Amino acid sequence: MKRKSIVVLISGNGSNLQAIIDAVKCGEINADISLVVSNKADAYGLDRAANAGIRTLVISYQTFKKQGKLRIEYELEMARKIKDVVDPDIMVLAGFMLILSENFIQQFKNIINLHPALPGQFDGTHAIERAFTAFTNGEIKSTGVMVHRVIPEVDRGPVILKQTVDILPTDTIESLEERIHAIEHQLIVKAINKELNE
Ligand code: GRF
Repeated sequence: MKRKSIVVLISGNGSNLQAIIDAVKCGEINADISLVVSNKADAYGLDRAANAGIRTLVISYQTFKKQGKLRIEYELEMARKIKDVVDPDIMVLAGFMLILSENFIQQFKNIINLHPALPGQFDGTHAIERAFTAFTNGEIKSTGVMVHRVIPEVDRGPVILKQTVDILPTDTIESLEERIHAIEHQLIVKAINKELNE
């Protein structure tokens, strides 16, 4: 039976991409990463992919904007270029920082997103910092990480897996981020397997 294919979209460091690469390499994920796509040419995750011998694609939204092109043209071009390589069984947004509309989402079987907060708690950017501020203000005692199916509404959609992360009185923003990222690296692998083996 043909091995299933994964496409990963990134915008930066790619530590979650690295967790997926490592899981494929050791057989924890029984599928192949066919392509890594970044909207930023300087994303370190591209180096991680190249080091693992994985094909990469950079489609810069800034370049599209400078050319006066529309967001929808960017999304359709990205979808076309991905499909020229593979139509993935699953697409993983691992630190991908652009919002994708229905024009893109509807073209793929399954797109999942990793977000460092619990459903509906801190949607959008800087979720960990916002959770830490809420903790400092005595509003919350814990935060979390989730992986969900992507719909047009940012960081919403059916939750695949989630995990609560307690915030400790001794925590700094750095120690909390470190603990959350460690949990992300485990949760993203579990969520991919859950989706692929559904
Ligand atoms: C992660 O916290 C992810 O949940 C968020 O951005 C960060 C990306 O980290 N969307 P990395 O690029 O995977 O290291």
